[in-house]
Amino acid sequence: MSNKMWGGRFESAPDAIMEEINASIEFDKDLFRQDITASKAHVAMLAATGIVSDGDAKAISAGLDQVLGEIESGAFKFSRALEDIHMNVESRLSEIVGPAAGRLHTARSRNDQVAVDFRLWVRDAVDALDAQIRDLQAALVETAAEHAGAVMPGFTHLQPAQPVTFGHHLLALVEMLARDRGRFRDARARMNESPLGAAALAGTSFPIDRERTARALGFDRPTANSLDSVSDRDFALETLAACAICATHLSRFAEEIVLWTGPFFGFLKLSDKFSTGSSIMPQKRNPDAAELVRGKTGRVIGALSGLLVVMKGLPLAYSKDMQEDKEGVFDAVQTLSLCLAAMTGMARDMTPDVARMRASAGAGYSTATDIADWLVRRLGMPFREAHHVTGRVVALASSRGVGLEALTLDDLRGVEPRFERDALDVLGVDKSVASRTSYGGTAPANVAAQAERWRKSLADERGA
Ligand code: ARG
Repeated sequence: MSNKMWGGRFESAPDAIMEEINASIEFDKDLFRQDITASKAHVAMLAATGIVSDGDAKAISAGLDQVLGEIESGAFKFSRALEDIHMNVESRLSEIVGPAAGRLHTARSRNDQVAVDFRLWVRDAVDALDAQIRDLQAALVETAAEHAGAVMPGFTHLQPAQPVTFGHHLLALVEMLARDRGRFRDARARMNESPLGAAALAGTSFPIDRERTARALGFDRPTANSLDSVSDRDFALETLAACAICATHLSRFAEEIVLWTGPFFGFLKLSDKFSTGSSIMPQKRNPDAAELVRGKTGRVIGALSGLLVVMKGLPLAYSKDMQEDKEGVFDAVQTLSLCLAAMTGMARDMTPDVARMRASAGAGYSTATDIADWLVRRLGMPFREAHHVTGRVVALASSRGVGLEALTLDDLRGVEPRFERDALDVLGVDKSVASRTSYGGTAPANVAAQAERWRKSLADERGA
């Protein structure tokens, strides 16, 4: 038997392998809510414009509600022969409503139907991810405020660079996440146009009201070009790009958790709730969740490159290749959501070993820049020269195998006779961080103020 939805000119059923490669119902059934919502908006518009009768529209709308109920309860039987979610829903609708159900597809095609369904799905996903990122920010800000003055080593090249505070480090991530949210927001604003009514590719001869369906579905306006409406998936690409960048941010923090919970750093502890043991080594506490966040980021990045490759060779308008747009997006969104939840859990769970961080903060001559700055400030030395002099101070400490704080005034004067006693003060890590009061710098007072600014802005958002 040929397909009952489009088989008029066909005599026989598709080959089994044709059916297998063609069907998307296995994954696009996740669009069922959006599909039914969009169909209800469409049929209400068809009635309002007189294209179908009020009676038919009512019956179709009630039938769609019934289908929704059946899918939600698990009673619905999905059929692969019906290819996708659109035809599965419509076919069941026709069993419930009878021939009038066939009027639903007036002035519509699966091409604009899938475009609108998928946009609605991605829009919902973006909103849910935004709320999750906000929760992670809130957890980080809380810990940052608590540890605004906890001194730790700051790194470049993963070598000790200059002391910073733990709060400052956490707030760096909060800023990165804020830009992630901005990217999702921008993508959302651009995607929020309704492709419904573009029909197959050329629009329709029926007097439809696209403004009305756009409004009913919460879009800002209808899309302006019917070819573009059914052709592009840039909204999915932008969202995947935002997911990939956000996941990359999480992955970098995850990497730090992996490093910092190990015995060589020993900066952080995760409780039993976020650690796993080894089946052979009884002493082990592994940060598996952090490693998995780092690892799963590969999938999210893969989804972005996968869809870019699908799209890059497609002429306008719709091609079936585009059916490949969904699985990557579903997986990336679900993966990022899981990673965000895990990172938020770890952010709330982790305990910094502030004594250990502090003890490591001066390692690797990390206050050397402070001596150079002293020479510039007190002696008016050009920075390049001060850098050179300080290099000799570091070499002296290094030759003795001690840290900078072990040097005496005489030691310093052996290198540069104009050193004075207060030069010794800048060698301490607390003085070092406290001096970095430039806007955005690591001085504890700055960090506390930034944490407070974030706390207020996240709380205002929640209130709003
Ligand atoms: N399942 C299809 C997809 O996801 C729906 C659109 C099908 N359109 C078509 N002309 N065959 O892309």
